[in-house]
Amino acid sequence: MQTNLRGRDFIGDLDFSKEEVEQVLELAWDLKRKHASGESHALLRDKTLAMLFFFSSTRTRGSFEAGMAQLGGHAAFIESRTTQISHGDTEKELGAIYGRYFDGIAIRHVDWDIGNRYLNLVAEASRVPVLNMQCEIYHPHQCLADLMTIMEHKGRDLRGKKIVVSWAYASSYLKPISVPQSLILQMPRFGMDVVLAHPPEFPLMPEIIKQAQEQARAHNTAFDIVDSMEAGFEDADVVYAKSWGPLLTTTDPDAGKQLQDKYQDWITDDNKMSLAKDDAIFMHPLPADRDIEVTNAVLDGPQSVVIDEAENRLHAQKAVMALTMS
Ligand code: CP
Repeated sequence: MQTNLRGRDFIGDLDFSKEEVEQVLELAWDLKRKHASGESHALLRDKTLAMLFFFSSTRTRGSFEAGMAQLGGHAAFIESRTTQISHGDTEKELGAIYGRYFDGIAIRHVDWDIGNRYLNLVAEASRVPVLNMQCEIYHPHQCLADLMTIMEHKGRDLRGKKIVVSWAYASSYLKPISVPQSLILQMPRFGMDVVLAHPPEFPLMPEIIKQAQEQARAHNTAFDIVDSMEAGFEDADVVYAKSWGPLLTTTDPDAGKQLQDKYQDWITDDNKMSLAKDDAIFMHPLPADRDIEVTNAVLDGPQSVVIDEAENRLHAQKAVMALTMS
């Protein structure tokens, strides 16, 4: 497949044009078919990927690592605390030196006001692509898998379909805002009408909202913000309800928890799902706080596509790696 993606970083969702995202998805479906039928697809034979983690992961690590092996290459899992970063290695050393060892550098760094800048500084110093495994602003590979999953369930033409991206209560920790931000940036480009639902203390970044509104205008789709789950779920084709921290209001974990605790009724249950279309799908990137963010009945129920969504991380990321690192 001929594309202009070779050597390109993928840090923000809009780094790839809509047409480039379509090319990624075409290859992802081809690789998914080949994986299912056992057909070899070693597009990155002898290539290596550094996976640098500053934060825990189940799906992201597993899918990037399995994906590189299936493409004929190797992924090195590097936990940041086991490196010399705390002893002086800066983004410059990481980018320049790992850029000489590896064919790609993937990074997860979700620390507020630090992660995205870290990725961009590594990218400046690196001669190989930098892939965002989640920062505090974007989770672009999750969003590609989400788009792929929505198309598999709702068809390739998503014009007129409504997605609600809703805040949900969680008691575990202040989760990053990167998933909802990536969704509201990417989905309008594929024709979806977006409704963002959250309590007043849980806004997303104003510059991301502005960009999402611009995308909606450019693609002639709707973009609305509401302050109740019920209003958001009304007639939705896709319910994407997850928690995020009130990070624009406070980054203090205790103050944030107090704010979260005000909204314990923001849980996706069968009653709220009944407000959406009868054939609506429920999405969540996982991990979810079970019976707190979403009931077990919904998460494990017939409308839930969360396992398909997690599987598609593998296929979407293999396509991005093959196109940027070959
Ligand atoms: N959805 C997601 O990124 O999962 P992990 O945090 O387990 O990688």
